[in-house]
Amino acid sequence: MIDQATGRDGSFERTASTPPFVSGLSPIELRRLASLDEYRQCEELQARVWGPDDVVRVPALVMVTAGLNGGYAFGAFAGERIVGFVLASPGLTEAGRVKQCSILMAVDAAYQNNGVGHRLKMAQRETALAQGIDLITWTFDPLASANVHLNLHKLGCVASRYFVDVYGTPERGLNAGLPSDRLLAEWWIRKPRVPIAPPAAAPVVGEVEPDPQSCLPVLHDADLSRRESVLLVEIPESIRAIKLADLELAVRWRLGLREILQHYFAQGYCAAGFHRLPGEDRVRHCILLERLDGPEAI
Ligand SMILES: CC(C)(COP(=O)(O)OP(=O)(O)OC[C@H]1O[C@@H](n2cnc3c(N)ncnc32)[C@H](O)[C@@H]1OP(=O)(O)O)[C@@H](O)C(=O)NCCC(=O)NCCS
Repeated sequence: MIDQATGRDGSFERTASTPPFVSGLSPIELRRLASLDEYRQCEELQARVWGPDDVVRVPALVMVTAGLNGGYAFGAFAGERIVGFVLASPGLTEAGRVKQCSILMAVDAAYQNNGVGHRLKMAQRETALAQGIDLITWTFDPLASANVHLNLHKLGCVASRYFVDVYGTPERGLNAGLPSDRLLAEWWIRKPRVPIAPPAAAPVVGEVEPDPQSCLPVLHDADLSRRESVLLVEIPESIRAIKLADLELAVRWRLGLREILQHYFAQGYCAAGFHRLPGEDRVRHCILLERLDGPEAI
């Protein structure tokens, strides 16, 4: 059944009010954060997720300020313990349209991949709709496969703007040594995009082979001459595993994907889905690029 609000079929109907179970873990309840103690818990959660010295760090002061000015943080609570949160503030598009700007979302490692991030986003959506806002934006790493899946597939965001090393290159923590390139996710919450299944003949524009020694995926040449309406761009299943094993290779991935996405965005394509492509030796994780008339100009 298609949900009129989200444009999704029933498999996407989890919302903030959906029964809060994460199998084998404490039940999760979502609520808006209201105290300094809760904001401080979010500081600690960031340190657990990103490591102690990463550039990704939003202090309680910013969360308090956002909360006093039309923004908010939603926490995912296991009892009194915050195991996930999303922080947002009001913003403007370049054209002066009011939107919500999502600053940060994090979920404790033990609770990841259980739908908590999705539920936090749906709570965010409900809040924005109640404020009469129809667009939420945030930045995300196109090399982070789970984030790409959540944003472009589960939520129905589109992305066609590329920012090079936008937050600087962290020296320590989860993303140490990797330039912080990001895409801008645009989530049109009244009618999120329903990702299409790619046609069987959709080409994969980058040549990826496992390294014979390490078995890590290596991005070789990129084909920048394609003109089909749907293209697939392979990304690693786990950029984190590559970073831990071979930082230089992770940086090569960053630069290679940067070249591909910047090129095709300039040709009028937009990142509008995530697809797992079964292959003989492995499942390929792919960003789906579509040549569109364009997401609404923001
Ligand atoms: C990004 C993050 C907030 C998502 O939270 P989450 O609770 O794990 O999200 P969800 O479980 O709702 O969705 C993740 C989806 O990615 C899928 N996934 C997991 N690993 C994947 C991979 N390698 N490739 C593709 N999809 C993957 C999960 O299965 C899940 O989809 P499903 O529900 O269809 O099974 C969390 O992973 C996190 O805190 N990451 C580190 C911090 C970060 O990157 N924050 C975002 C930028 S501010």
